[in-house]
Amino acid sequence: MPESFERLQKTWESLGDEDPLWAILSEPDKKAGRWQLDEFLQTGNQTVERYWQLLRRHKCPEILGQVLDFGCGVGRLTLAWTLHAQHVTGVDISQPMIEKGRQIMAEQKNVRLELNQTDNLSMFRDGQFDLVFSHIVLQHIPWKYAQTYLREFARICKPGGWVAFQLPSRSHRSQLLPRIRRWIIDHLPFGLDMAWRRWRRGSSVLFNMHFTPPSKVKALLEDAGLQEMHREFDKSAGEETEGFLYLYRKPA
Ligand SMILES: C[S@@+](CC[C@H](N)C(=O)[O-])C[C@H]1O[C@@H](n2cnc3c(N)ncnc32)[C@H](O)[C@@H]1O
Repeated sequence: MPESFERLQKTWESLGDEDPLWAILSEPDKKAGRWQLDEFLQTGNQTVERYWQLLRRHKCPEILGQVLDFGCGVGRLTLAWTLHAQHVTGVDISQPMIEKGRQIMAEQKNVRLELNQTDNLSMFRDGQFDLVFSHIVLQHIPWKYAQTYLREFARICKPGGWVAFQLPSRSHRSQLLPRIRRWIIDHLPFGLDMAWRRWRRGSSVLFNMHFTPPSKVKALLEDAGLQEMHREFDKSAGEETEGFLYLYRKPA
């Protein structure tokens, strides 16, 4: 059964309540609040730098106007983008993530975090952003919803602006056994499913990973009026996955 939108939202609300930094970057030794905030935010600078270098190679301006960080979490990458933009908006489905993010960047002037618990981005105007960006987010959203967001990225991107994101395309591990195991655990009675997950993973909720071939991404975004500028190999979703970092542009 494909994951429902309500379940997606509940999953990220629970993860944001339990251990938000670890839910975002799940390093085994950082479980249970063991991420140091400085170290966590530093990883955001490194990721944004990679996209920034790519954008600069494609002659984006030295400073961007409006940037959107879709699936901003606690603002790890939103904050890093403030170095390269006049204003950055972060948007996320999870209230606890947004609340934690607002605390982290209370002193930062050119940034705003917004909650959006809908399957579209109608809260933003056509052509509002110079850059629409998303990293390690679309991989957790079933294609049924991810494709709507990608079309929305194209709509809210300014003519002449950019859309940059990452998506895994396949896993080197078979997905069959994990799916069967997950189904069995989901159907354990008396809350044993949550107890099992807390014991095995340190969290009672589990997020899904979705894989999308680049041909599907390209067909959709070209149909939405964007041009592919660059695609490079990427392993942000884990060593056992293959994926791509994408850069698209909306014709001026
Ligand atoms: C792995 S975290 C990444 C957070 C951030 N991009 C980063 O790298 O620091 C995934 C984030 O996507 C958010 N998310 C999941 N589905 C979403 C949706 N439909 N709309 C907006 N945010 C969503 C989650 O709440 C979570 O904060």
